[in-house]
Amino acid sequence: MDRLYIFDTTLRDGEQVPGCQLNTVEKIQVAKQLEMLGVDVIEAGFPVSSPGDFNSVIEISKAVTWPTICALTRAVEKDIDVAAEALKFAKRKRIHTGIGTSDSHIKYKFNSNREEIIERAVRAVKYARRFVDDVEFYAEDAGRTDNEYLARVIDAVVKAGATVCNIPDTTGYCLPYEYGEKIKYLYEHVDGFAAGKSILSTHCHNDLGMATANTMSGVLNGARQVEVTINGIGERAGNTSLEEVAMILKCHKGIGIETNINTTKIYPTSRMVSSLMNMPVQPNKAIVGKNAFAHSSGIHQDGVLKNVQTYEIIDPHDVGIDDNAIVLTARSGRAALKNRLNVLGVKLDQEKLDKVYEAFLKLADKKKDINDDDILLLAGADRTQNHRIKMEYLQVTSGVGVKAVASLGLNIAGEKFEACASGNGPVDAAIKALKKIVNRTMTLKEFTIQAISKGSDDMGKVHMQVEYDNHMYYGFGANTDIIAASVEAYIDCINKFQ
Ligand code: KIV
Ligand code: ZN
Repeated sequence: MDRLYIFDTTLRDGEQVPGCQLNTVEKIQVAKQLEMLGVDVIEAGFPVSSPGDFNSVIEISKAVTWPTICALTRAVEKDIDVAAEALKFAKRKRIHTGIGTSDSHIKYKFNSNREEIIERAVRAVKYARRFVDDVEFYAEDAGRTDNEYLARVIDAVVKAGATVCNIPDTTGYCLPYEYGEKIKYLYEHVDGFAAGKSILSTHCHNDLGMATANTMSGVLNGARQVEVTINGIGERAGNTSLEEVAMILKCHKGIGIETNINTTKIYPTSRMVSSLMNMPVQPNKAIVGKNAFAHSSGIHQDGVLKNVQTYEIIDPHDVGIDDNAIVLTARSGRAALKNRLNVLGVKLDQEKLDKVYEAFLKLADKKKDINDDDILLLAGADRTQNHRIKMEYLQVTSGVGVKAVASLGLNIAGEKFEACASGNGPVDAAIKALKKIVNRTMTLKEFTIQAISKGSDDMGKVHMQVEYDNHMYYGFGANTDIIAASVEAYIDCINKFQ
């Protein structure tokens, strides 16, 4: 079996999604889970981009032992200096530097020419090698770069010391056969690959829904590293999903390529990332979607009952879906909650566990069975603790043939405010009351209520986008009362206003 290296960029390319930003504590939690999952490389951030990213790379480097920690840079010396500094505590470290190589990037982004781009790429790789032995080069927009020129760039950076060469299909434009041919062309025209001096890496975006197909085509044609994210999150339509590539290789052993992924950790990792980033997983998402293993048609159900292999190519247990998982209730003790949190990859100190348990008991009063999503939400709930604006109370009356009326109490930096408003439905009334207190010109642009999945007492989850001062702010709220969840999400947006 050949070994394929898994490079996870959930915390870099994935985290670039508007509204999905994590704080350092949450990033460490995800990084530790990725380590348990068995990824080889964690791209922890783009240190020069913000103090938050710089700090996260430092803290993840300290928290994680086995995976290589990677930091992204442009082909700019200052970026590389900052990345090297951020990586100082990493046990294994990699600098990921690069530059756009397609004609449009060269002309419009850099106002440069092909030869100068090769010089800049080589200079950046050599400079990065002064700090670390492991340097990955990315040729941004390689998907739309002509193969002959791309091979010249890649040959030059391999000679300059690049240990990995990343060939991003940045815009998700390539067809699988084209992307595979590109990887094959590079493998055949750059001596360093067959000589074992460097390996080729895929990095595919999903704009045309072909990220996984392109990645697999790259692997079948010689790539030995794949750049992926949990749940396929990433800018626009996202990146290649880690879980899809890992399960393709597990199901198709004949390909003869294996990864270090412990597939039973896939589902808990997916839940954790979805919950911390407030990014719902589409129900029909391969491997980790709610419906991925749900057979609803009579013919399928009949077949599966006779023999699961009739319609199931993956045993749900192989990806960590445990139908018999203990459902927690009001009678569950701290130990049961702690145990379930550990299974989900969340480790809390005693003080935090006590707080989460208190919140758990309150929720269990309202809701019979507490599921994994609820537990993850509770464990992340103190994200709002330092918020300036908090909801104190909300009362709404609504019905058919009457106007909805809401009265709302807010605590803003310790001071109490109240307002009443009527509206075209309970959410409208509650938000109008909120706007009477927080008197700013803001517009609700998007409002998503996640469907109740388990029962009428389930938590409602609300995602919102609010425009204020020409900026878009993303907010999230979760509550057994869907109107309260909506107000929480709006308040979450306002708390982020600059
Ligand atoms: O998609 C892309 O080109 C990237 C690079 C910065 C690696 O994310
Ligand atoms: Zn990317």
